Formats: sequence, structure tokens, C-alpha cells
Amino acid sequence: MERTLILVKPDAMQRGLAGEVISRLERRGLKIVGMKLLHMDETMAKKHYGIHEGKPFFNDLVEYIISSPIIAAVFEGTKAVELVRNTVGATNPLDSAMGTIRGDFGMEIGRNLVHGSDSLENAEKEISLFFSSQELVSYDRDIDRWIIES
Ligand code: RTP
Ligand code: MG
Repeated sequence: MERTLILVKPDAMQRGLAGEVISRLERRGLKIVGMKLLHMDETMAKKHYGIHEGKPFFNDLVEYIISSPIIAAVFEGTKAVELVRNTVGATNPLDSAMGTIRGDFGMEIGRNLVHGSDSLENAEKEISLFFSSQELVSYDRDIDRWIIES
């Protein structure tokens, strides 16, 4: 079973959309195994988005992600990385399909509401940046057999 990191970004927090974002992922069948409210500092933001260092949007991206408290969460499920990315939608809300989070609530690439890890390898790195192993909780849900075949 895969685990992936999501962030409810500052714009979604400020717009009161945290519940909506989390609810959509939860209703997909994904299980919450970690969650916290935090205010990222510049050092952490630069580490999280280190892959984009040097790109023209990097400074704005760092400023954006530290502009408000955010929610970080770890979701678990079958192919969780891809499932979350598909639920979140394309990076630019202009290209995101309706029915995705960004497609339903976003307008600009620099205010795209949610982060989702883009690969299993990056998910593992990102999860360990936000959570210690004790903060992640493994548990069974009675309903899982109605969501997961085996
Ligand atoms: P994220 O990492 O936040 O989940 O987004 P993503 O994978 O869909 O997109 P990524 O390429 O990783 O870019 C990270 C964030 O940087 C901002 N961005 N701005 N102005 C631009 O051209 C531009 N490109 C990317 C977006 O906020 C994007 O989510
Ligand atoms: Mg990304």
C-alpha cells in the first residue's frame, strides 16, 4: 500500500477549503495516516521545493507556501501517489479537468490549493520532512474490504 504527502496550501486554508480538500481525498477511499497544522518557515519551504530552486517562479513559490499556516497530511491507499495527483488535477488550474480540486476551485498556477507528491520516491522524502515515524499511525478500517479488493 502506498503513502503520499499532501499539503493544503495557504490559499485553500485562507479560503476555508481545507475540509473540502481533505474530504475529497477521503471519499476517494484514501486513509488518513498522519495530519498536522503547521506554519512552514523559509528553510523548510526551500527544502520541500528544492527541486525547483533556480526556476523563475521559485521565490514566489517559497513566499506563497509560507504565507499562512497549512495542513500537511499523509494518505494511504492503492496507488496513492497517482490517485492523489489525479484527484488534485493538473498543475495549472486552467488545464485542470472539472471535478478535480484545482479544476473546481482554482484559477492561477501560483494559487493552486493543494500539493501532492509526484512519485513514490519523492513521497517518502517529503513525508519524512514533515512527519516522524511515531506521528504516522497504521490502523485498519472495517470498511476497507469494500474499497480494496484484496
Ligand atoms: P505541487 O508540487 O505543489 O504539488 O505542484 P505540481 O507538482 O503540480 O507542480 P510543480 O511542477 O511541482 O510546481 C510546484 C508549484 O510551483 C508553482 N509553479 N508555478 N509560474 C509557474 O510557471 C509555476 N510553475 C509551477 C505551482 O504553485 C506549483 O504547484
Ligand atoms: Mg510538484
